[in-house]
Amino acid sequence: MSIDYSDHLVHDRAEDEKLLSVNPIREDDGEFSLRPKTLSEYIGQQKAKENLRVFIQSARQRGEPLDHVLLHGPPGLGKTTLAAIIANEMGVTLRKTSGPAIEKPRDLAALLTNLNENDILFIDEIHRMNRAVEEILYPAMEDKQIDIIIGQGPAATSICLELKNFTLVGATTRSGQLSSPLRDRFGIDLKLELYTPQELALIVSRSADILGVEIAPEGALEIASRSRGTPRIANRLLRRVRDFAQVYNDGRITREAADHALTRLDIDPLGLDMIDRRLLLSIIRNYGGGPVGLETIAATINEEPVTIEDVYEPYLMQQGFIIRTPRGRCVTPRAYEHLGLEYAGQMSIDT
Ligand code: ADE
Repeated sequence: MSIDYSDHLVHDRAEDEKLLSVNPIREDDGEFSLRPKTLSEYIGQQKAKENLRVFIQSARQRGEPLDHVLLHGPPGLGKTTLAAIIANEMGVTLRKTSGPAIEKPRDLAALLTNLNENDILFIDEIHRMNRAVEEILYPAMEDKQIDIIIGQGPAATSICLELKNFTLVGATTRSGQLSSPLRDRFGIDLKLELYTPQELALIVSRSADILGVEIAPEGALEIASRSRGTPRIANRLLRRVRDFAQVYNDGRITREAADHALTRLDIDPLGLDMIDRRLLLSIIRNYGGGPVGLETIAATINEEPVTIEDVYEPYLMQQGFIIRTPRGRCVTPRAYEHLGLEYAGQMSIDT
């Protein structure tokens, strides 16, 4: 793949800055301040973390950049946090962008040629990059090269541009949507899993400490158990529980204070919210508990199919409330029980 670079020989820094954010973004309602900066501060994801520790140490010992890293897993599990930790542990600069933000091959070429030695380029939602852009990455990742075309028509010439050493960190909620040439070029593949309530309780206690909020261990565990295995949700709920504890009590988060706040927020004892319940009830009431196709469920509850797949289903499946079958989604007897409904058997479950 070659890029027509004729009108882009002089890098437009302002354009680059639109694609890249070198400075931390204050996203997730101040979540940034709660993020761990080192691997030892990072709680959970034991397997990914320990392997990463080895890869980082060994690359540093050899004085080489880290191999390209693919991080995948449901949203909110800390993919961006890990990318920042990798940069910090490697002692290099992190440059952040996202798949949909890179519209043209030359946008990506500009980003790549502007990287400094050993920089990390983080591409969030890398599965949403278009094919023409993606093809620039192949020689860049493999041989540190990109091909560019200068001039037009018969006078056009192609030149090969050498890039500096760099590490690409790609993050995706759907690794299945990556093409295999792209996936194969990542030397390190880390899958992030939903967190256990115990791990999330440690995260909540750590965050409360940073925010200066007093919290009982049982209060932290209550929030953790109702956060769908996701640190981003746990930290958001911690802030909301703090609001209630402050207004109704002395500000200290006990188990009772957490339960009161979370009940007011319509988050049930297992962390299901209104949309989770609407999803399960719609399959039960409209489709006899399933099997029913994803598109049909999405249309019925007025949500995007990808949102259901990426955001709602992972936790509902982990809890054993929904199963995927070749003929569609089915609600399990356990979900009926949780919703206080009688299970009358399903149309048919084809696993
Ligand atoms: N905040 C968000 N994710 C975290 C994690 N995995 N460890 C510690 N604090 C966090």
